[in-house]
Amino acid sequence: MLKKFSFIIPLLILGIFFSGKDSFATKGDKDSKNDKKVITACDGMTQVVLNDVGKNEVMTREKAQEVASMLLATYQQQKKYQSTKFTRRDSLIWDRELKAMIEEGYKWFHDPSLGTNGISCDMCHPDAADTHPETYPKFQIQLKKIALLRDMINWCIENPMEGKPLKEDDPRMKAMEAYIIWARANQDPRPHAKILNPGRR
Ligand code: HEC
Repeated sequence: MLKKFSFIIPLLILGIFFSGKDSFATKGDKDSKNDKKVITACDGMTQVVLNDVGKNEVMTREKAQEVASMLLATYQQQKKYQSTKFTRRDSLIWDRELKAMIEEGYKWFHDPSLGTNGISCDMCHPDAADTHPETYPKFQIQLKKIALLRDMINWCIENPMEGKPLKEDDPRMKAMEAYIIWARANQDPRPHAKILNPGRR
């Protein structure tokens, strides 16, 4: 099966050993790498160098599927090893960052300054009650469209709180989404509502 992919040189880059993309080398020929298509998997580490695809080429569906499968197979082989290189210090840092973001969301959720009339989210949704983040996307009658969680957050800002909607990439929006999802996942006894451990893959 793997022979089918022999035209691809799978190259696993482990962040711990290599400081950056520049230390990536294909059999000692550093310059040739620049002309080749290199695709990185979603872990940010696993890579394949394609010898038979141009740098800016859009692959056919068949070829793209082969490359995707190759990347995935390489990632799965290495996953076990990768997860062991995270230290306790890493987990503590991730834990702290997650906590900070959730706390930021908690703060905005309790802050009437998102609106103009003194009302804040928690007054109607104590502990993020009835926010049902796991039910999105879904059709919301009042919006007359399929809504994402952020659309409902904005709807509630604009209506009961008489405020201005937040941009989708507004850090306050992201933090509130994080808080709502985290709060519900940690209170909801249903099996799909998992606790979000930091760094979980
Ligand atoms: C005055 C009370 C009130 C305030 C304040 C309020 N909401 Fe709501 N919110 C509601 C009600 C009532 C609904 C139910 C609407 C529905 O499901 O059709 C709702 C629905 C929601 C939903 C969707 C729930 C679902 O079942 O899909 C989310 C998410 C939400 N609110 C988040 C927020 C956030 C975030 C804030 C603050 C920015 C906020 N709400 C402020 C009353 C409020």
